[in-house]
Amino acid sequence: MSAETLSAESMSPHAKTLEVMTETARALVAPGKGILAADESTPTIAKRLAGIGVESTEQTRQAFRELLFTAAGIGDTVSGAILFDETLRQTAADGTPFPEVLTRQGVITGIKVDRGTKPLAGFPAEVITEGLDGLRGRLTEYAALGARFTKWRAVIRLGDGRPTTTCIEANAHALARYAALAQEAGLVPIVEPELLMDGSHDLARCAEVTATTLRAVFAELARHRVVLEAILLKPNMVLPGTDCPVQVSDDEIADVTLAVLRHTVPAAVPGIVFLSGGQTDEQATSRLDAINRRGPQPWELSFSFGRALQAPVLAAWAGDDANRSAAQAALLHRARLNGAARHGTYTADMEGVRV
Ligand code: 13P
Repeated sequence: MSAETLSAESMSPHAKTLEVMTETARALVAPGKGILAADESTPTIAKRLAGIGVESTEQTRQAFRELLFTAAGIGDTVSGAILFDETLRQTAADGTPFPEVLTRQGVITGIKVDRGTKPLAGFPAEVITEGLDGLRGRLTEYAALGARFTKWRAVIRLGDGRPTTTCIEANAHALARYAALAQEAGLVPIVEPELLMDGSHDLARCAEVTATTLRAVFAELARHRVVLEAILLKPNMVLPGTDCPVQVSDDEIADVTLAVLRHTVPAAVPGIVFLSGGQTDEQATSRLDAINRRGPQPWELSFSFGRALQAPVLAAWAGDDANRSAAQAALLHRARLNGAARHGTYTADMEGVRV
């Protein structure tokens, strides 16, 4: 029987699950769409809300997330939303669970499943992501609550003598163990190794460390029998550090980022969804656009932005209900611009044009 004629009914449960995961992964990187990362942990969302003078309470966090998820038509340019544990269990004001709100919008629900970073013992200033203990049970619960994909973020810091091989390998190993467990639960894993922008390293150094990290990650994924067709990779773009005296053009960033990815990411991976990582919203969009202008690549090249999608929304909202629709308009606008960047058709003058 050819792969085409193999119907879902005649497949083993395992093959069926794999097919569903592969379809989900592809849907998350559908043309013109990308992911809204709204999975800030409680301390991180508190920082974001403090930035607009709003106290972080369960109620203000719910109100902000409801504003995001109920923006009319968000499903046109947002394929999936990543939630934090608390948010996955919350409801809209009318009592509808958030995953159901998202489904009605045509947006797939995802969940951050790591438990944040801790110092890596013996390696000053380096961190390891925790959260593997009990993960199998949590994944089953998240699937029952409506999640269809997951995220785990590893953090690599560049600096004097950093990162060490030990830090890269420990984080790659944790990413692979997470990804295998997520697939076992029928959930698409987003594998996120993030090299932070902080520091004075140059573009070439970021390229070198990004390549080394991605090679280590894909070696571990293979060892742990993770099915590449049913994952998404969430990397940093290759950028000079924020304190590097030599900053470079978007075209150079696009060329170097693609060169690194082509050398390290197997073509079986359906999509690469960049994090924004502290770039301004306009920089993140314009660089994604430059990347997509370079023609077809083995994988879809999309976004999974947190700050670069939410910063203008937070600013427009400022915690005041009267600004709700202006804030939702800001989200739709930003998402539309990133949707254009998926096609390589974004231009800076679109920034001022609200549809
Ligand atoms: P930023 O786009 O703000 O980097 O957030 C994306 C994310 O999910 C980081 O884990």
